[in-house]
Amino acid sequence: MKGEAVAVAGASGTIGRAVVRECVARGFEVIALVRHASDRDVPELAGARVQTVNLADPTDVALALAETNADVVISCIASRSGSPKDALKVDYEANCHLLRAGEGAGVQHFILLSAICVQKPKLAFQRAKLGFETELRTSRIAHTIIRPTAFFKSLSGQVERVRAGKPFFLFGDGELTACKPISDGDLARFIANQVGNEKAYGAILPIGGPGPAITLKRQGELLFEAAGLEPKFRSVPVGVFRLFAAIFSLGAWASDWLAEKAEYARIARYYATESMLVLDPVTGQYCAEATPEFGEDQLIDHYRAILADPPK
Ligand SMILES: NC(=O)c1ccc[n+]([C@@H]2O[C@H](COP(=O)([O-])OP(=O)(O)OC[C@H]3O[C@@H](n4cnc5c(N)ncnc54)[C@H](OP(=O)(O)O)[C@@H]3O)[C@@H](O)[C@H]2O)c1
Repeated sequence: MKGEAVAVAGASGTIGRAVVRECVARGFEVIALVRHASDRDVPELAGARVQTVNLADPTDVALALAETNADVVISCIASRSGSPKDALKVDYEANCHLLRAGEGAGVQHFILLSAICVQKPKLAFQRAKLGFETELRTSRIAHTIIRPTAFFKSLSGQVERVRAGKPFFLFGDGELTACKPISDGDLARFIANQVGNEKAYGAILPIGGPGPAITLKRQGELLFEAAGLEPKFRSVPVGVFRLFAAIFSLGAWASDWLAEKAEYARIARYYATESMLVLDPVTGQYCAEATPEFGEDQLIDHYRAILADPPK
């Protein structure tokens, strides 16, 4: 598929950057769609044509996409805050503008980076993502929806705590949830594999990284092993998130700020209690064996790489 013209939206984000780099390495003609002109200097975008676009403006998106002559659009855009308003604006509306512009510009394939958690939607950002998935599935452009499990970066929030000799926080006993974490590079390779892959047209592809599913407790053990330290854990009851959500919800009707805080508490509770694995529709249980895997990168090597750098 060398020579394919691929427009990557959200090219400045974590996965967007990795996708641009992978697509450039494969010899695709890559157009990196970004919102800030300063993103031209992002090193991972080297080899791509960087084009600014205002994704909130359908006319601007249509003009930008028509200019690209893209055969394929890969959307890696996502709300950075996860707040209900921003999720609607970005995960739903901006993606709709991209889709409509793609239809007008003769794009043949739209690849969407979604998330595995939309299979059990309880949060505003998940409903926004699902809303766009529905638009995509009824559009006339061939499409592929990719729903990854947790990214390495999402499992790295406690690296500095552990390096500083502090205990690793667990929710409950640390065995409430599990995931099959995937690196940015492996996910980018998986996404790039779908370019020109007609077998993936119309598909929803859940995807995890290699190896067995790991619990939060296992993440902690891997992190202590990478740091060469004895594991020590501290348990936090998941009920605290429900309590915060309830307290913030009391004033949510009068304050957007409180409504957002309530949603963030619900997001935290969701990730503390729901696994990032394929959900069996019959049993209603998460199933590691049913979650496809791809790639080679291991979480412990990611931890070792971060720990090799000086503390932040
Ligand atoms: N984190 C996880 O473990 C995980 C797991 C599964 C799925 N996912 C999903 O993977 C996707 C990508 O994640 P990521 O970590 O790569 O995201 P990210 O680093 O936060 O990148 C988000 C991208 O969207 C762009 N964007 C946000 N708001 C925008 C706006 N108003 N207008 C234009 N562009 C906007 C950002 O541009 P700027 O750089 O200009 O802000 C950036 O390019 C998300 O849909 C996420 O839900 C994440």
